[in-house]
Amino acid sequence: MSNKAILEYDGKKYELPVLVGTEDEVAIDIEKLRGQSGIITLDPGFKNTGSCKSAITFLDGEKGILQYRGYTIEELSEKSSFIEVAFLLIFGELPTKAELEKFKADIKKESMISEEMKNILDGFPRSAHPMGVLSALTSALTAFNPIPVNVNSKEAIYNAVCKTLGKFPIISAWAYRNSQGLPLNYSDNSLDYTANFMRLMFKIPTEKYVVNPAVVKAMDQLLILHEDHEQNCSTATVRVVGSSHAGLFASISAGVSALWGPLHGGANQAVIEMLEAIQKDGGDVEKYILKAKDPDDPFRLMGFGHRVYKNFDPRAKIIKKAADDVLESLGIEDPILKIAKHLEDVALKDEYFVQRKLYPNVDFYSGIIYRALGIPTEMFTVMFAVGRLPGWIAQWIEMRENKEPIGRPRQLYVGATKRPFVEVDKR
Ligand code: SDX
Repeated sequence: MSNKAILEYDGKKYELPVLVGTEDEVAIDIEKLRGQSGIITLDPGFKNTGSCKSAITFLDGEKGILQYRGYTIEELSEKSSFIEVAFLLIFGELPTKAELEKFKADIKKESMISEEMKNILDGFPRSAHPMGVLSALTSALTAFNPIPVNVNSKEAIYNAVCKTLGKFPIISAWAYRNSQGLPLNYSDNSLDYTANFMRLMFKIPTEKYVVNPAVVKAMDQLLILHEDHEQNCSTATVRVVGSSHAGLFASISAGVSALWGPLHGGANQAVIEMLEAIQKDGGDVEKYILKAKDPDDPFRLMGFGHRVYKNFDPRAKIIKKAADDVLESLGIEDPILKIAKHLEDVALKDEYFVQRKLYPNVDFYSGIIYRALGIPTEMFTVMFAVGRLPGWIAQWIEMRENKEPIGRPRQLYVGATKRPFVEVDKR
């Protein structure tokens, strides 16, 4: 395989290095292109452009492969735990038993947040979307933890990781409690991470909170499936914001905002709203397939399609099975699940979707499980954020440790050329 590419333009040839990754992906390194030729590349949405080298997550969209630090998502979601996978993503290796126990204990030491944070929370109307509250509270954590992370110190990074993992589920749960007018819960350090998060969300002061192991296991598996996904929109945002040397909380707050969009993490909420609309409309799946195919109709089949996966999203396969298992174990019959499966069947046989390689993605079935676990629709994307947090942290650390330059893309200017100012009374 050649280690260089030649760009020929206007009678001149430019030699560009070619890099090959550990999974045989090939990249043309254009770092020196503008310097050599005065030419830039243009790639709206970065569909063909790599922003970095990364050793964290590998995905193959054609083959439907997703691996965290070389371990398959299938094995990790079956055999590991959210916190163990967080350690793997952030520090690069699966922890020993002692490392895992220490990691869990050190995160629990960070399971309190300043009481003054409640004053910020109180400023939001009940109607505020929890993602907006979460982004604001995440950024506000900087005010209560003002010392920037010393990225040259392994200890400082470890402490910042534990602090972030300890505090994020609390403010996530508080965003929910605030939206429901419910009293805020504190962590219970006798519980593991995901059980504690569910308790933060659902404990009511008048009753003892009983942990449901089936619910905790389902939630833990869902969180694992969301932990990282290489350079998706919100992770790329965290890396770009962090590249200006903005703090970790500020960078994650920006990631939360990017994830909120309905084309990205907000899709899990949009899927359920779509399925409920189809149900209300008599379950006429074919009508909505036609709408999704109509170029003049802005309607899209939410939970379908993906920038990278042009095959089944491996997470969607696992979540689809988990949805059946969770509903069965909880004895729930959800008509929305039947509509989702019917929609999937019809779409996967339809030429429009087949030709464009549009398959169900991670968001298509996740909302059905969240509903079954009692999570309100508006909180679905917050669940996604709680899951994605370790990936955002790992990617931010990698970017800073690699001393990557500030993210500042070029552009192709297509506006007005130079012209003289005209006084207002002459216009
Ligand atoms: C996530 O990047 C990640 O890794 C994200 C994520 C993660 O873990 O971080 O996996 C999480 O964000 C999953 C995606 C959730 N979003 C949705 O489910 C929203 C619905 N999907 C689409 O909006 C769309 O598929 C995107 C945004 C996901 C991907 O869009 P692309 O890659 O920019 O593709 P495109 O818009 O250029 O579409 C290509 C064609 C177009 O048709 P033509 O112009 O060629 O005729 O496919 C069509 C699109 O109109 N199309 C759809 C469609 N998705 C694409 N048509 C109907 N319904 C859809 N859902």
